[in-house]
Amino acid sequence: MTDYSNKNPYPSRITVNHVLNGEGSKKETRHIVFDLGDSGLEYKAGDALGVFPTCPPDLVESILEKLGCPPDEMVVVKNEEMELRHALLHKCEVHRVSKRFIEGLAPHFSSNSSSIQLKIVTRSRKNSAGFILEDWESTSEDDLPDYYTPLGPIDDPEKALWVSLVNDSQMMEDYIWSRDYLDFFEDFPTLQLDAQEFVDGVETLKPRLYSIASSPNFESGTVHLTVGIVRYNHHDRDRTGLTTGFLADRCVSKDSIVPVFMSPTRSFVLPEDGSTDIIMVGPGTGIAPFRAFLQQREIDGATGRNWLFFGDWTEEGEFYYREEIEAWQSDGNLERIDLAWSREGDEKVYVQHLMAKNGAEIWARIDAGGYFYVCGDKNYMAKDVHKTLIEICAENGNMSNEEAAHYVEQRMMKDEKRYLRDVY
Ligand SMILES: Cc1cc2nc3c(=O)[nH]c(=O)nc-3n(C[C@H](O)[C@H](O)[C@H](O)COP(=O)(O)OP(=O)(O)OC[C@H]3O[C@@H](n4cnc5c(N)ncnc54)[C@H](O)[C@@H]3O)c2cc1C
Ligand SMILES: NC(=O)c1ccc[n+]([C@@H]2O[C@H](COP(=O)([O-])OP(=O)(O)OC[C@H]3O[C@@H](n4cnc5c(N)ncnc54)[C@H](OP(=O)(O)O)[C@@H]3O)[C@@H](O)[C@H]2O)c1
Repeated sequence: MTDYSNKNPYPSRITVNHVLNGEGSKKETRHIVFDLGDSGLEYKAGDALGVFPTCPPDLVESILEKLGCPPDEMVVVKNEEMELRHALLHKCEVHRVSKRFIEGLAPHFSSNSSSIQLKIVTRSRKNSAGFILEDWESTSEDDLPDYYTPLGPIDDPEKALWVSLVNDSQMMEDYIWSRDYLDFFEDFPTLQLDAQEFVDGVETLKPRLYSIASSPNFESGTVHLTVGIVRYNHHDRDRTGLTTGFLADRCVSKDSIVPVFMSPTRSFVLPEDGSTDIIMVGPGTGIAPFRAFLQQREIDGATGRNWLFFGDWTEEGEFYYREEIEAWQSDGNLERIDLAWSREGDEKVYVQHLMAKNGAEIWARIDAGGYFYVCGDKNYMAKDVHKTLIEICAENGNMSNEEAAHYVEQRMMKDEKRYLRDVY
């Protein structure tokens, strides 16, 4: 048996790939099933699957044309020799121009021309968290960082754009947010790059992780995912996220083969004791691991109560896995479900609003040793749910806010490991 891993992914066949949304939905969320064949790959409920996408072939062809290099020219990526086209399709993130790539063009734009007046005297850069990456002040004309080019009257528009980008971090962020390498070459039409220089500069293609939406005991030999497709339009061109676009637009035929690997979790697991109650909060694609948990708890005959908080925009458009969920409600596997539809009424209803309404019951289950799980958006939802959980504990557990925060963050999360999150 081969040991499949991130370094040696298994070429899995996609057997199911359909949209979960109801008619008229403005979202595209897909249920995708991967066949594990004779790979010997194993997983448990709570694990994630790593997926390696292929870059959009039409974009790759356009980039090849702009580069002006033969597609079969040999290049080296991570010590492996391959044809340029193969590298662009499978080894490079060509759908999003990177900051490192633009900064790396310094040799093409540096100038020793003495007629250009030096203008840069100080330079400070911070990352998105506000940490200072660079804080530099000029003392003479000679001590410029090597990638700097003098600012001054620049006739060459390409050079002027490059200088602006490397000197203005906000402009750089805005530029790279909405552009791929085709946009880049359109902005820098005279820039000559050789094939190796190009592949050395772009980011290496990275796999994306997806929370597995199936239990291996329930859906034998397969892995199910719930994938929210990222689509947007910039500069009059429709674009997609690299992996979600690949899965949605180029893996619809039954014979699609996609390299995958398992990414096991040590923490996001079901309680060993099946009689433990669990509360699951998973709006949107956050439902994925909870489908796996519910399948697993059913097959295990777990007697603990399962309570799900789910929601999305509308009941009609985004009630993913409705039939399965309703069947679980009927047979008792899902003891309780609270649904938050955020775009149905005049006011937003979010999962944490429903949690707050049911604070006493949530506290009772948690106080008795129940597990609390959250999956989905890290930036907003998980933070608000966290805050609400602390408020519920404070209000119902007779604690100050500080004591409740300690109870949630130290006791539940760290000591007892029964507040578990899978957020992205
Ligand atoms: C542990 C884990 C589990 C996950 N589980 C799931 C899951 O179950 N289901 C799921 O759908 N996802 C899940 N994700 C997210 C998933 O890994 C990918 O990040 C996601 O599918 C996007 O990948 P992509 O390659 O399509 O997009 P990328 O090419 O990586 O692009 C995504 C980027 O595009 C940006 N973007 C969004 N809109 C725009 C816009 N209008 N203009 C420009 N940029 C934009 C986003 O901010 C994001 O940075 C999980 C992530 C982790 C870490
Ligand atoms: N890292 C990536 O590359 C990547 C790629 C794809 C998706 N994502 C993120 O993954 C998350 C999951 O996306 P998804 O499509 O499954 O669903 P989602 O965008 O998380 O939306 C699911 C539900 O959560 C609601 N919501 C919005 N803000 C909230 C908050 N502060 N608290 C609670 N609920 C809130 C939404 O309501 P409203 O929309 O009506 O406000 C919607 O009803 C998103 O945040 C998305 O940005 C990340």
